[in-house]
Amino acid sequence: MKTILITGGAGFIGSHVVRLFVNKYPDYKIINLDKLTYAGNLENIRDIEKKPNYEFVKGDIVDEAFVSELFKKYNFSGVIHLAAESHVDRSISNPTEFIFTNIIGTVNLLNAARAKWSENFNDKLFYHISTDEVYGSLGEEGLFTESSPYDPRSPYSASKASSDHLVRAWYHTFKLPVVLSNCSNNYGPNQFPEKLIPLAINNIKNMKQVPVYGKGENIRDWLFVEDHARAIDQIFHRGKAGETYNIGGINEWKNIDLIQLLCKIMDEKLKRNPGTSASLISFVKDRAGHDLRYAIDSSKLQKELSWAPSLQFEEGLAKTVDWYLENEAWMNNVMTGDYEKYYEKQYIKR
Ligand code: NAD
Ligand code: DAU
Repeated sequence: MKTILITGGAGFIGSHVVRLFVNKYPDYKIINLDKLTYAGNLENIRDIEKKPNYEFVKGDIVDEAFVSELFKKYNFSGVIHLAAESHVDRSISNPTEFIFTNIIGTVNLLNAARAKWSENFNDKLFYHISTDEVYGSLGEEGLFTESSPYDPRSPYSASKASSDHLVRAWYHTFKLPVVLSNCSNNYGPNQFPEKLIPLAINNIKNMKQVPVYGKGENIRDWLFVEDHARAIDQIFHRGKAGETYNIGGINEWKNIDLIQLLCKIMDEKLKRNPGTSASLISFVKDRAGHDLRYAIDSSKLQKELSWAPSLQFEEGLAKTVDWYLENEAWMNNVMTGDYEKYYEKQYIKR
C-alpha cells in the first residue's frame, strides 16, 4: 500500500483532491495534514473521514520538528503539497504569515522528504501545487506558458514564486524528484467566502452589497475545482519529474461580467425580480497592486496528459450556486471565525 501525504486537505482545493484520491485509490493510504487555520474545515471532508484508507493529522508545516517526526512515522512515497496561505488581500494586510507558511513550510517539507528518501529516490515524488499569479500580470493579449518569466507582484504571489524556485532548487541540487503545476482561479463548493465568487453568492443571498474592486475590469481565467483535482491526479501519476504543467480553464471573464452573470443566476434561483441582485453591486476601492489579467495556456497538459476542463462556466457556476444555497450550515460554520470583522475592515466604499 502506497502512503501519500496531502497537505492542506481541509481547505478548498485540498478537500477535493483528498476526496478524489481516497475514493479512486482504495490501495493508497491518504494522510491529510492540515493546521486547520480559518480556511481549513473538516466539514469539507466529512463524507470520507471514516474510510479505512484515510487519516487526518492536525499540524503546522512551519513546525520543523513536527514535520520531520511525521516523515519518520509514516513511510510516504509521495507528497502533494497544497497547504498555504492563499488569499491575496490577506497577504496585503499581513504578509508575514505568508512567508512562514508558504516559504518556510515548503522548505520544511522538502528537507524532510529529502532526509527520508535520500537512500532511494525511486518511485518517490514531491508534487508542489502553485498558482498562475507567479507569472505576474498580462496586458490585453497573450497567455502564460510554462516558460513565461516569473514576475510576482503581491506578497502572496511572491511567496508562492519563492516556494516554486525552492522546489526546483531541491530537484537540481539534491535530485529530489519533484513536479509542479501552476493553476488559474478555481471556483466551486467549499471555497472560503473571502474569495470573489462565494463572497458574492453569500452577499447576494443576504441582500448585502457586492464589493467589486475598481471598475471591475480585471480578468481571471476560471476553472471548476474538480477539474483542477483531476489534473492533479493526472500530473501526480503521469507527470515527468522536474517538469511544470500549467492548468487553466480556457475561460476568461472580466470581474464585472462574471458578477452580472452570477446576479442573473441568483435572481433565477431565488425567484427574485430580474435586476434585484445586480442592484447590490458596489464599486469599491481597488486592491493595491491589482493584477489586470491572468490567462493560462494549458496545451502542454492537454497534449501530454490528455486533460481538458469538463464544465462550461455557466453550468459550473449554477452548480456552485446550488451548493452554497443548499449548504447554509457550512457557510454559517466557516463564518463564525474572524471573518466578519475582517470583512468590515477590508472593503472601504468609494
Ligand atoms: P485554502 O486557503 O482554501 O486552503 C489552505 C489549507 O491549508 C487550509 O486547509 C489551511 O488550514 C491549510 N494551512 C494553512 N497554513 C498551514 C500550515 N502552516 N500548516 C498546515 N496547513 C496549513 O487554499 P486553496 O484555495 O484550497 O489553495 C490550495 C493551494 O492551491 C494553495 O497552495 C494555493 O496557492 C494553490 N492555488 C489556489 C488557487 C485558487 O484559485 N484557490 C489557484 C491556484 C493555486
Ligand atoms: O489565479 C490563481 C489565484 O486565484 C490563486 O492563486 C489564489 O489563491 C486565489 O485566491 C485567486 O486569487 P485572486 O486574487 O484572483 O482571487 P479573488 O477571488 O480574491 O479575486 C478574484 C478577482 O475579483 C480579483 O480581480 C479581485 C476581485 N475581487 C475580489 C474580491 C474578494 C473583487 O472585485 N471583489 C472582492 O470582494
